[in-house]
Amino acid sequence: MFLRNYWYVAASAAEVGRKPLGRMILGEPIVFFRTEAGEAVAFEDRCAHRHLPLSMGELVGDVLQCHYHGLRFATDGHCVHIPGQEHIPERAKVRTYPVAERYHWVWIWMGDPALADPDKITDFHWLDDPNWGAKASYLHVEANWQLVVDNLLDLTHLAFVHGSTIGNTALAEHAKVKVDRSPTTVAVTRWIIDQEPPPTFKRVGNFAGNVDRWQIVDFVPPAFLRLDVGATPTGTGAPQGQRVGGIGMRNLNAITPETETTSHYFWGQAHDFDVKNAELTDKIFEQIRTAFLEDVAVFSAQQRNLNIFADPPQLDISADAGVIAARRILARLHDEEQGAGTFVAAE
Ligand code: FES
Ligand SMILES: [Fe+2]
Repeated sequence: MFLRNYWYVAASAAEVGRKPLGRMILGEPIVFFRTEAGEAVAFEDRCAHRHLPLSMGELVGDVLQCHYHGLRFATDGHCVHIPGQEHIPERAKVRTYPVAERYHWVWIWMGDPALADPDKITDFHWLDDPNWGAKASYLHVEANWQLVVDNLLDLTHLAFVHGSTIGNTALAEHAKVKVDRSPTTVAVTRWIIDQEPPPTFKRVGNFAGNVDRWQIVDFVPPAFLRLDVGATPTGTGAPQGQRVGGIGMRNLNAITPETETTSHYFWGQAHDFDVKNAELTDKIFEQIRTAFLEDVAVFSAQQRNLNIFADPPQLDISADAGVIAARRILARLHDEEQGAGTFVAAE
């Protein structure tokens, strides 16, 4: 199940250059490149002649030349040159996709191009805001995108999966949890009051004693999860809105389906303390990366089982409240898109 009328992160800005980049998104092969003026372009990665991936080709100025028989395609997808032939048939063109660049990421619109409004791109400003230190990266994941969403909406797993970094048992046993739902969003708020900080927080926060820790997960469809996380010395007022003497971070996640069973996982970590300290930014990033590799091992193992057992029965526990709410929203949005698609097709 894919949702199409959304902006997705397709690549880091640095990945898209003058060498064509082939990448599958929502099951569709796409090629990305940059014009000489620096504008990102996306085509279907399939030549209109004999289907060779255009990502095997090369740029000649701003036109992409197919590696096989040399047809050339301009940035609007139209063929502008066929070797040894004057006439260029009208059908000689490749599909193009709307793209936009924000927060050091190249975004792609996978649905109806008429609906592609860049103002609808989900806010990830922490990645390029001078008031934050931040570093972003990418993981290829052998799991369905919704398993990654589930993972980030139930943070009790930190206690078991991430004991050496961002987790400890206090998280699963002593959290006050609230789930807020709107028709299109879910927010899971967890407070862990007067507990020992987890290892990563000790390493980067220099806490002397217990802390009040928050984890506020903000889910926006199809697969954006922005986590407001941090801790302050216990009793200094963070639950009442006064965050002093501690650390605040944003864990930022943009998951893009590659296929039904694999995903592109774009993520970043931003921090609001000592923001110009690149060494600290790296240190925090490495801690979170260690944790995320533990997550990748978990959801790829889940996917391996799901590849064996088709739609097996599963058990819900109270920690799943946010996960279930998000899955309901996604199922409804999918139904609505399918319904709208039928309507358009019938016209
Ligand atoms: S397959 Fe591209 S030019 Fe022939
Ligand atoms: Fe995790």
